[in-house]
Amino acid sequence: MNVLIVVVTLFVLTAFAAQSGYEGNKVYRLKPTGKKQLEMLANLRNEKNLDFWTPLRRDEHPVDVMVNFKEEKWLTDLLKKNNITYDTLIDDVDSAVLEEHERQIFFPPTKQGRISFIKYHRHEEINAYLSRLAKDYPNLVSIQNIGKSYEGRDLDVIQISTNSSAGKPVIFIDAGIHAREWIAPAVALYAINQLVENKDNANLLEKVDWNILPVLNPDGYEYTHSTLLQRFWRKTRSQGNKCIGADANRNFDFHWAEIGSSSDECDDTYHGKHAFSEIEAIALSNYISQNKNRIKLYLTLHSFGQLILYPWGYTSELPRDNEELLSLGEAVAESIKNVSGTNYIVGSSTNILYAAAGGSDDWAKGVAGVELSYTIELPGGGLLGFDLPTWKILGVAKETWEGLKTFCKHISEKFN
Ligand code: ARG
Ligand code: ZN
Repeated sequence: MNVLIVVVTLFVLTAFAAQSGYEGNKVYRLKPTGKKQLEMLANLRNEKNLDFWTPLRRDEHPVDVMVNFKEEKWLTDLLKKNNITYDTLIDDVDSAVLEEHERQIFFPPTKQGRISFIKYHRHEEINAYLSRLAKDYPNLVSIQNIGKSYEGRDLDVIQISTNSSAGKPVIFIDAGIHAREWIAPAVALYAINQLVENKDNANLLEKVDWNILPVLNPDGYEYTHSTLLQRFWRKTRSQGNKCIGADANRNFDFHWAEIGSSSDECDDTYHGKHAFSEIEAIALSNYISQNKNRIKLYLTLHSFGQLILYPWGYTSELPRDNEELLSLGEAVAESIKNVSGTNYIVGSSTNILYAAAGGSDDWAKGVAGVELSYTIELPGGGLLGFDLPTWKILGVAKETWEGLKTFCKHISEKFN
């Protein structure tokens, strides 16, 4: 009898879990060489049937791209015709998504207000953690709500400061503007955890304050968590005419829609109806504007690609202070490499990737005047780029944390 119940339950469970929405999808790792092949790939950037997981780079570097079985032959024929070599990275995206889901539900929910680094947390758990810290460390932590997402979730910034009336320079970090990039909020959480709960890091709070928004696009983030059908959703969840969501990182009001974004609502890089059509982008920009005199460093965490990018994203021209941006970026990369050997490439985003206007990094520098502004593309890993396996969260968080310390050192020295 008991055996029967178990068998039936298992059957029912697998029947329910058997669909990820990615059946028949594969991920290929393409290895372009030479200018011609790179250009050919660049032209595929906005191809509807392809989902580029790694941002397309200008230099020779593997590019991971997801394709549905219906377009598989079209793609492989095209690659062969152009002599681009490739490997199959994930033969069955469907089962990889299901596996990740099982790892996620394997761990019971953490206690209210607690987090861990062995799984990816839901938005509610993350905000509950921030509130718990504010309660437990009232002299160090306060929460500022900077607005709500489209679906009404709280955008809470945690402010970590040992002497909040001192008007110290602020390091502001956000993560999770792109829904599927789960490692980014996890790394932001680790930084929060280290700054608040690890007394050994008190020196990092002496000369600067840290303000951190761990999930900027919580609707998208929750969507990728709650429906297996949409693990690789990138955009917000605002209602359009025929499709949902805009790429919040193409929605900022600085050279908006000029280059590298799409005007088609259904595309992953849709820039929105107009600049700042997305409520999350508005909330962030208001917050930065209000604090622009104190924010001396803006960091936005993404995945994946192991890149430290700085403006501009809308032009290949370099900013006036390119030298400082580059050398600080390189110092950060060096400190990460020293932890784990992880290699980062540093440069202006147009020159390393391709031009894409309307990003939060460009806006922070170009409009709000936060001169030191960076996008960090964290590592991807294992099988699925975006779902870096849970057992790798801590390693990535720790090495990145060393990089953040290097940023902190620079800001502390420069502004005191
Ligand atoms: N992969 C990131 C994105 O597509 C890179 C952003 C770089 N910054 C920029 N302003 N283009 O959003
Ligand atoms: Zn991203």
